Amino acid sequence: MATVEPIEWTASGVVMLDQRLLPGEVTYYTYTDYREVAGAIRDMVIRGAPAIGVAAAMGVALGAERSAAHSTEELGAEIPVIVETLAKTRPTAVDLFWALDRMRRRFDALVAETEGIKEPERIDRIRRGLVEEAQTVHRERREADQAIGALGAALLPQRGRVMTQCNAGALATGGIGTALGVIRVAARQRQLEVLVPETRPYLQGARLTAWELQQEGIPLTLITDNMVGHFLKTGNVGAVVVGADRIAANGDTANKIGTYQIAVLAREHGVPFFVAAPISTIDLTIPSGEKIPIEQRSAEEVTHIRGVRIAPDVPAAHPAFDVTPHELIAAIVTERGVARAPYEESLRQLAGTASGQSS
Ligand code: MRU
Repeated sequence: MATVEPIEWTASGVVMLDQRLLPGEVTYYTYTDYREVAGAIRDMVIRGAPAIGVAAAMGVALGAERSAAHSTEELGAEIPVIVETLAKTRPTAVDLFWALDRMRRRFDALVAETEGIKEPERIDRIRRGLVEEAQTVHRERREADQAIGALGAALLPQRGRVMTQCNAGALATGGIGTALGVIRVAARQRQLEVLVPETRPYLQGARLTAWELQQEGIPLTLITDNMVGHFLKTGNVGAVVVGADRIAANGDTANKIGTYQIAVLAREHGVPFFVAAPISTIDLTIPSGEKIPIEQRSAEEVTHIRGVRIAPDVPAAHPAFDVTPHELIAAIVTERGVARAPYEESLRQLAGTASGQSS
């Protein structure tokens, strides 16, 4: 069965599935302005690190395609504004900055390649080149997911249960998913059941992962976040596999809030804890997890569920991510191979010289 498409480049604009309305409503919007794409990333219409990267790349392409610039020089003055607007949306997922950096470098390369060509042919070529680059980013996400799925599936148990966190599925990447891609591939080969923590406060587990797995007929049990310890202790869980928003050079991994406590409990109960993420999520410029910026979202997302108040008017905190120390991670699965401790070495080998490295 084909996986759900969270984002698509079309002749009319960038089409996105509104993930805020799932699972109740399947609604697509068409964005024709890069500022709207930035708003969609900030407001969680699209989310999940790799999908945010795809949206950012398409945002730059859209900004260039729809700009009123008549010359390469005029467009060159607009590109930094477009990139800056998109960069200010969400701070933790490094795929966003990776994609923006890649699009900026592609713009520079296109300017150099088209030197000597007359306007408006030159600017048209540059616009087409940026659209192609954004589509390439999307295609590469899909390919990376397939490779991660195949490599990661080999690490999961032959039977029993696996646990995940948040949504690292098709909705979060534009492919088959990273952590959920691993689970998808494994579930095609053998009988597995997925334990899905609901992932408060935004409920990506309950609303998105449960929905994706149900669509594909993969057996699952939805649990609340405070059941994680109980199930890791008693629930025949053979592995935990999660996605990532940013992986530091030493393997420390930022992922959805709640991931850290799952990793600690997995260690306590002897359950291997795996991270699945593309190379674009590895940030070798950050030595350890302490340096990863953690997005602080609105307290209202804690005191309210879908606009309904569930707590009195009290202070509430919403760090959207936490950092799992590398000691708790059994392996990091990327499209180029499986990294194991010591991660400084293994991650550098996989990501260091690659085009996927953010600068
Ligand atoms: O706040 P979100 O929904 O963007 O957070 C998503 C996650 O934490 C995912 O686990 C992560 O981005 C990996 S997605 C393949």
